[in-house]
Amino acid sequence: KKIAVVMGGPSAEREVSLNTGRAILAALQEKGYDAIGIDLNPRDLVEQLKTEKIEVVFNAIHGLYGEDGLMQGALEMLGIPYTGSGVLASAIAMDKTVSKRLFMAAGIPTPRARLYNNRDNRLDLIVQDIRENFGIPVVIKPAAQGSSIGVIIVENAAEIEAAVTEALTYSGHIVVEEFIKGKELTVSILGSDQPKALPIIEIVPQSGKYDYKSKYTKGATEYIVPARLDSKVAEYIQKVALDAYKLLGCRGIGRVDIMFGDNNQPYVLEINTIPGMTATSLVPKAAAAIGISFADLCEQILLMVDD
Ligand code: DAL
Ligand code: MG
Repeated sequence: KKIAVVMGGPSAEREVSLNTGRAILAALQEKGYDAIGIDLNPRDLVEQLKTEKIEVVFNAIHGLYGEDGLMQGALEMLGIPYTGSGVLASAIAMDKTVSKRLFMAAGIPTPRARLYNNRDNRLDLIVQDIRENFGIPVVIKPAAQGSSIGVIIVENAAEIEAAVTEALTYSGHIVVEEFIKGKELTVSILGSDQPKALPIIEIVPQSGKYDYKSKYTKGATEYIVPARLDSKVAEYIQKVALDAYKLLGCRGIGRVDIMFGDNNQPYVLEINTIPGMTATSLVPKAAAAIGISFADLCEQILLMVDD
């Protein structure tokens, strides 16, 4: 079957997606698949898929159009199968305000948060509300972004307004969360009807902050696999991650980002339905820890496509 690895696109994570996509394309070609790369232009994707007679899409788009369910909707209409989660799970996972509401309703632990949008809330009232409801540090993030773009851990109350303004430039609504002090963890998950958790990765950025630079600069972050956790605790955290994945109805692949607080409680931050597959990315590291090579990982994701 002819495969297109769709990558790039116009989102703020374009460069990350190009790196993810190129790595996947090379892996599939190495495995002997008939695969090409397409740099997403949403306006002529449909035509391109038809011209190239594409039969399966390997989705490597982070953020806008590819991680949020939009491309999935177009592919459903065209009858072209694709990797990863479907329309609804993708849309929910991409929006941290919606996924957070579902986590809370289902009893999945997540940091206490308040959600704001720039339609109903005035900037000064948002700032006042944050001051009244949170201590410092406080975490302010756009609802629909990735790779930590627009996320600010505010350490000084005077900087709340600037952080809110910044986060609002990326999406019309934002999440404000209590800061959880503890270990930063991620749980990679593979599978659809019977998903399995891979070994937990503990993330130790040298700068102390796992921001865009720490994520994509070689050597800037230390990754410990498996995470330094008691085995019972690790199992519990993997179960929480699987519960979150199943709750949103994710398929194929996903990565659940978690803070393990100094109070020994895990908190689910979010689920990434198109996790990075770059040289410094997490899912390939977790897979490697149990002997799954990058090319095998890509092939497994491809073979899990729902026809
Ligand atoms: N949003 C980035 C690509 C990730 O989750 O890995
Ligand atoms: Mg993310």
